[in-house]
Amino acid sequence: LAEIDVDVSQVAEGQSITAKWRGKPVFIRQRTAQEVEEARTVDLGDLKDPIARNANLAGDAPATDENRAAEGREQWLVMVGVCTHLGCIPLGQSGDYDGWFCPCHGSHYDTAGRIRQGPAPTNMDIPPFTFTSDTTVRIG
Ligand code: FES
Repeated sequence: LAEIDVDVSQVAEGQSITAKWRGKPVFIRQRTAQEVEEARTVDLGDLKDPIARNANLAGDAPATDENRAAEGREQWLVMVGVCTHLGCIPLGQSGDYDGWFCPCHGSHYDTAGRIRQGPAPTNMDIPPFTFTSDTTVRIG
């Protein structure tokens, strides 16, 4: 399916669900205020990959937290849950940056899904998506 609608009404703050889109897991997480704050205080110069990798934005958009989160819904992160190293599925709320950790070869991602440490070359991808209501995310 090119497009899927995902009901996120049951995803409370601090929780995630995983949808499947084009054969890939997509993590949909309602981040806590603290997670958003952590991501926002990062100096962009400290990022291994300075590009947002957000299919909804220009290809050279910088990897600010604002450019990674859902537009106008800063708590929500919708992200292809595939490690950009060799394609393992990272574990949530893990690693040295409180985001995701890929156990295959030790890549650490932050609370915005940006690569911070380890062999992965780029931030996890943000797929094309939009909130069609407060509780529905359309991916694709
Ligand atoms: Fe994730 Fe290698 S596949 S670190």
